[in-house]
Amino acid sequence: MKVIAINGSPRKGWNTETLLKKALEGAGAAGAETEMVHLYDLKFRGCVSCMACKLQNGKSLGRCVQRDELTPVLERLHEADAVILGSPIYFSEVTGEMRSFIERFLFQYLNYDDFRKPLSPAKKCAWIYTMNCPEELFDQMGYHNLFQRYENWMKLYFGHCETLLATDTMQVADYSRYHLGRFDAEAKRLRHETVFPQDCQKAFELGRRLVAEN
Ligand SMILES: Cc1cc2nc3c(=O)[nH]c(=O)nc-3n(C[C@H](O)[C@H](O)[C@H](O)COP(=O)(O)O)c2cc1C
Repeated sequence: MKVIAINGSPRKGWNTETLLKKALEGAGAAGAETEMVHLYDLKFRGCVSCMACKLQNGKSLGRCVQRDELTPVLERLHEADAVILGSPIYFSEVTGEMRSFIERFLFQYLNYDDFRKPLSPAKKCAWIYTMNCPEELFDQMGYHNLFQRYENWMKLYFGHCETLLATDTMQVADYSRYHLGRFDAEAKRLRHETVFPQDCQKAFELGRRLVAEN
């Protein structure tokens, strides 16, 4: 079984990549072969609406024909048994690179003849998000809808998706060096030391579950 994690954060070693690594560790512990892809290391564009993936009688039906550094990743994802997508929240959305990736990953499979029957192979899927926002503000920020929308797309295209949220994350190692007066540095540190390890454990379990329940 092959599990691929897609890191939509530009920062290696920070919250999002740490959780994705834990999820892959869990998948590995359950016997899967694992791979991490860093979107910010790749030169690629979002969908350019060439429509080649919708051509009648074309061999490109259901497959993206754009050629760039995302192409081999999309090929490996097509064959993978599970995919774990990770993104920080930027301005109440996934990051720009993650959004461009989603356009390329999903549009090739979209079936305009019948939206309910996409051209994608079944897979286990998961989303992992990290954000400054505490859960108490989700209603006010509309975040429940955001996470539900992305989860629903993955369920529609691949048949399975679960979501893990790491909220109120630590944004920098030393808050005293930055203009970040809105945040309580001590509370952030404490949360990072007590809650984030629990998030890491949840990510590990998530990765293990994706493989064990396959
Ligand atoms: C450009 C930018 C925009 C951000 N916008 C939001 C936001 O809208 N909501 C939020 O909760 N956090 C926001 N954040 C904070 C990040 O989501 C948070 O620090 C996240 O955990 C960073 O992930 P990383 O540690 O993997 O880089 C933003 C950060 C940046 C750099």
